[in-house]
Amino acid sequence: MFRRTFFALLSVVTLAPLAAQAALEAGSPTVLITGANRGLGLELARQYAERGWNVIATTRRSADDPGAAALREIQREHPRLVIERIDVTDTAMIRGVAEKYRDLPLDVLINNAAAVEATLAADLAKLNVPYDQIDFDAALNEFSVNTLGPMRMAQAFMPHVKRSQHKKIVNVTSLAGSFGRGFPGAMGMNYGASKAGLNKYSVMLADAVREEGVIVALVQPYFVATKADMEAGQQGAISVEEGASRLIKLIDEMTAAHSGIISNFQTGETDPF
Ligand SMILES: NC(=O)c1ccc[n+]([C@@H]2O[C@H](COP(=O)([O-])OP(=O)(O)OC[C@H]3O[C@@H](n4cnc5c(N)ncnc54)[C@H](OP(=O)(O)O)[C@@H]3O)[C@@H](O)[C@H]2O)c1
Repeated sequence: MFRRTFFALLSVVTLAPLAAQAALEAGSPTVLITGANRGLGLELARQYAERGWNVIATTRRSADDPGAAALREIQREHPRLVIERIDVTDTAMIRGVAEKYRDLPLDVLINNAAAVEATLAADLAKLNVPYDQIDFDAALNEFSVNTLGPMRMAQAFMPHVKRSQHKKIVNVTSLAGSFGRGFPGAMGMNYGASKAGLNKYSVMLADAVREEGVIVALVQPYFVATKADMEAGQQGAISVEEGASRLIKLIDEMTAAHSGIISNFQTGETDPF
């Protein structure tokens, strides 16, 4: 009895990663996207799934959360898209998913999630908070999501990336983090500083893994109409479909030369730090 229970448990433990990967097709490239339940992340998941890639679409939302309904809808049409729960501030949760897929080569890791609001109005209200009204708990959360989140993901999934064919880590940053060409005045202090921190981490990470053939790229748009109260054309924004398609093209064409620099997928230019 004990032996049977022991071996049953052992097979559950050892077969779990295989079961997790059952929906994914061996031989097809795999992309993992954070913050894939809305905005750019959702559209990236849709377009990669339409191209026949294996997609690990991650969201901090639970399986029945209405905020992930659009992602579940894509999954119904594309069984090779799996949804995993990842809050990028939760190291244990990230490591759990990395362990679940421990045998899977991960071609492209897109660190897309960011502490941004669902509407432009709410985002602007947050970006316009002046220095003397900074809520430091909120600031800590922005750093945990925007700066440390991609590093937590890179640390946990680096073994998967290293054993893949494409070996690309793509960190989505923002002009807000730029010293050379940032947001006007003192707009978006927490967001800007957290993205500047992400930029610095990414450059150092790029150096750390360059010799092993891993590309760590920073990418940013100028403006993508991802918010419920925005439309393409507004203040120079491109549509979310166009933004995702341009980013995927950039990732396809990425070489070691893109590692440690900021590529703007809207303009096609290299942006200053
Ligand atoms: N849109 C632009 O014009 C623009 C410009 C420059 C840079 N960017 C960058 O592009 C990326 C995507 O932006 P977007 O406009 O598509 O944003 P978005 O539509 O607001 O989506 C942000 C995503 O991040 C997720 N997220 C937030 N906190 C998280 C956490 N702790 N763990 C996991 N996921 C979390 C959100 O999930 P919930 O639904 O659960 O909140 C959502 O899925 C971001 O890195 C952003 O900084 C965008």
